[in-house]
Amino acid sequence: MNIILLGPPGAGKGTQARRLVEERGMIQLSTGDMLRAARSSGTAMGKRVAAVMDAGELVTDEIVIGLIEEQLEGDNGGGFIFDGFPRTLPQADALGALLAKHGATLDRVIEMQVDDGALVARIIARSTCGCCGEVYNDVTKPQPADGKCVNCGGTEFKRRADDNEESLKTRLLAYYKQTSPLIGYYYAKGDLVTVDGLGEIEAVAGDIKAALG
Ligand code: AP5
Repeated sequence: MNIILLGPPGAGKGTQARRLVEERGMIQLSTGDMLRAARSSGTAMGKRVAAVMDAGELVTDEIVIGLIEEQLEGDNGGGFIFDGFPRTLPQADALGALLAKHGATLDRVIEMQVDDGALVARIIARSTCGCCGEVYNDVTKPQPADGKCVNCGGTEFKRRADDNEESLKTRLLAYYKQTSPLIGYYYAKGDLVTVDGLGEIEAVAGDIKAALG
């Protein structure tokens, strides 16, 4: 099964994708994570996209489609979760063509709805384990009191450079202008299921499970 998790910054795409990886053996393809990895390893592409990401703007379609294309060459295990991709109509068209090339289809697009006020609060409070990427939140899922990641025992926690109110404004604008047209695009194809992303993490996971069947 191949699915897209679609939603604004902080909707909980990464959080729910990690659960699906654990529960269903699916493979998470997060273009945000791939771009951050390219930055950390100092590749030429990573250096090119750094300022764009920090400002909260979208990286070019060409770069992100190329990243996804590389990943689709491998074994898909229990299927792919596209997390943060596609984000523009040309990316959506490219994904459809790439899947068709591999004889695969898109089975579900899960739109996660969360209002802007909650998104700001979530993003400002987010941190991740520097070792395994487990996602924490100062309010809803604080880092463990013993300072060790619940998933891997790592002791280093990071905050993202674009997790500030100014970048978030630009990220939200990009979502509404460039990404939200995908809601109609996938609705017209009959692939779209909308879930309320405002509930507790467990409740949202239950709704996604029901949507996937
Ligand atoms: P990316 O990394 O994709 O960021 P994003 O879409 O802005 O999404 P986030 O990772 O911020 O949020 P999320 O929905 O995963 O939420 P999370 O689960 O962490 O992209 C970053 C940048 O890369 C972009 O701005 C762009 O520059 C570039 N880029 C990436 N892909 C691109 C593409 N396809 N095209 C062009 N450019 C691209 O949760 C957030 C917080 O909330 C956490 O603290 C979590 O614990 C908490 N939380 C989660 N669920 C709940 C809940 N139900 N209740 C309470 N708290 C919750």
